[in-house]
Amino acid sequence: MAETESGLPIQAVYDDLPAGFDAASLGEPGQYPFTRGVYPTMYTGRPWTMRQYAGFGTAAESNARYKELVANGTGGLSVAFDLPTQMGYDSDAPLAHGEVGKVGVAIDSLDDMQVLFDGLPLDQVSTSMTINAPASTLLLLYQLTAQAQGIAADKLTGTIQNDVLKEYIARGTYIYPPAQSLRLISDIFAYCHKEIPRWNTISISGYHMAEAGATPVQEVAFTLANAIAYVRAAQTAGLHVDDFAPRLSFFFVARTTLLEEVAKFRAARRIWARIMRDDFGAKNPKSQMLRFHTQTAGVQLTAQQPEVNLVRVALQGLGAVFGGTQSLHTNSYDEAIALPTAKAARLALRTQQVIAYETDVTKTVDPFAGSYVVEALTDDLEEAVLDLMKQVEDRGGAVPAIEEGFQKSEIEKTAYDTALQIDSGERVVVGQNKFTIDTEEPYEPLRVDPAIEAEQGKRLEQLRESRDNALVQQHLAALQKAATGADNVLLPMRDALAARATGGEVADALREVWGAYVPRDSF
Ligand code: 3HC
Repeated sequence: MAETESGLPIQAVYDDLPAGFDAASLGEPGQYPFTRGVYPTMYTGRPWTMRQYAGFGTAAESNARYKELVANGTGGLSVAFDLPTQMGYDSDAPLAHGEVGKVGVAIDSLDDMQVLFDGLPLDQVSTSMTINAPASTLLLLYQLTAQAQGIAADKLTGTIQNDVLKEYIARGTYIYPPAQSLRLISDIFAYCHKEIPRWNTISISGYHMAEAGATPVQEVAFTLANAIAYVRAAQTAGLHVDDFAPRLSFFFVARTTLLEEVAKFRAARRIWARIMRDDFGAKNPKSQMLRFHTQTAGVQLTAQQPEVNLVRVALQGLGAVFGGTQSLHTNSYDEAIALPTAKAARLALRTQQVIAYETDVTKTVDPFAGSYVVEALTDDLEEAVLDLMKQVEDRGGAVPAIEEGFQKSEIEKTAYDTALQIDSGERVVVGQNKFTIDTEEPYEPLRVDPAIEAEQGKRLEQLRESRDNALVQQHLAALQKAATGADNVLLPMRDALAARATGGEVADALREVWGAYVPRDSF
């Protein structure tokens, strides 16, 4: 019998719904356990947010791309930061050399942030920021930037990814040890509940684990296990579950295998709703809703015949929509080669617009409800996810399992098997190992100007000369005092950033008192 990506059976012919299926237990859209979607009307009420991840070079270059995307109809912003920013280093730090502005925009200070969002209506657009270990820094810089534009914090909507646990498993942009990272994340939950109530405080991500090779079951199981660790940490920090859980959000991949992906999203909603109601006693339905963003699978794009990726992305995007995503990023067809060109980025957005405005999939909620195959896969995925989540729990939960290397090694095993299947041709990748052509057409990639590193260095020099350094040091000392005590670190951090402390100086101040995480396998 054929198998799904998760190794579950998929029948050639289904002739009935799964045993025990009952429309009543399936529930209504917008009702517990939200299997059919988190809102009663879903896209019949409002289409998902078209939220294209973008950012490169200097704040001014990225600001221009954001304005282009807004002009082309994107509904929400999604900021990509360069690695130095993501790792808590300033653009002129030795470790930043060669990476400034490369995989995202370079942001060192409040001045850069004000350039990044210049002329963008922060009270009208929601902004996602893909930032993890220094998420508090970028959130505060965003709040201070909006404040300078006369926009109050309680008007701001958006998301910080802020999911450091998955960084220890995949991707690697962590700074502090797990315990300190969880403390900082709980401080952010408490701060936002009070100061920025409409802000989504975390985007608990399975995407990067999927890109590292995880199956749909591993993707959901390890993500929800991380989510449980965050909820427990926040409760240990004294927060009440219904005070922070409504602003938790999630982030998953959409693979080309769209039947399993639709079932994956439906199963994930049902599992999370039950965990929040039954295990954590959440009473507010918003605490039980698994709201998520989806990005189409970058790892499935090919550098060969790149235009074929347009078809893959359309199918992946359709799977995310059938699965009830709240927000969607469709990859550009050229991303397997280089940073997307403006034309490729526009085509990626147009793909979503065709799905939203030319098909009929927004006319009805959860179109696969009652489908023999999707209901069967939803049940089977739910069972397999719960089983893998128990394996994590039996190790003491996500953090001990991470420190043991459990999730990482499970994903690596899957990635290795997938690579063998592609090499042997058992797994077809059109254009790459089957239906290939001899000569590829020429392609002109977008290049990031290396001169921007010097430009950012000059900006930092001017900043350090023009600010009140004694005041900056005073606030950094207050930050370290809070970090070694129990006070919320975001308050002194905000004062330091407002006085033009840089992101690197804030991260260095915390490194000094918290230390930097060194994974066991790197000894
Ligand atoms: N009926 C009623 N209300 C509805 C509705 C409907 N049908 N549809 C939407 N709404 C309401 C919602 O309730 C919400 O109102 P609220 O804020 O008062 O609750 C508002 O309309 C906006 O709707 P959503 O919150 O559903 O949509 P958003 O787009 O604002 O938020 C999210 C979606 C998933 C909750 C949010 O967390 C988000 O935007 N996440 C994006 C994350 C992201 O972009 N990540 C990029 C990662 S790239 C990366 O990691 C790097 C690379 O390596 C991949």
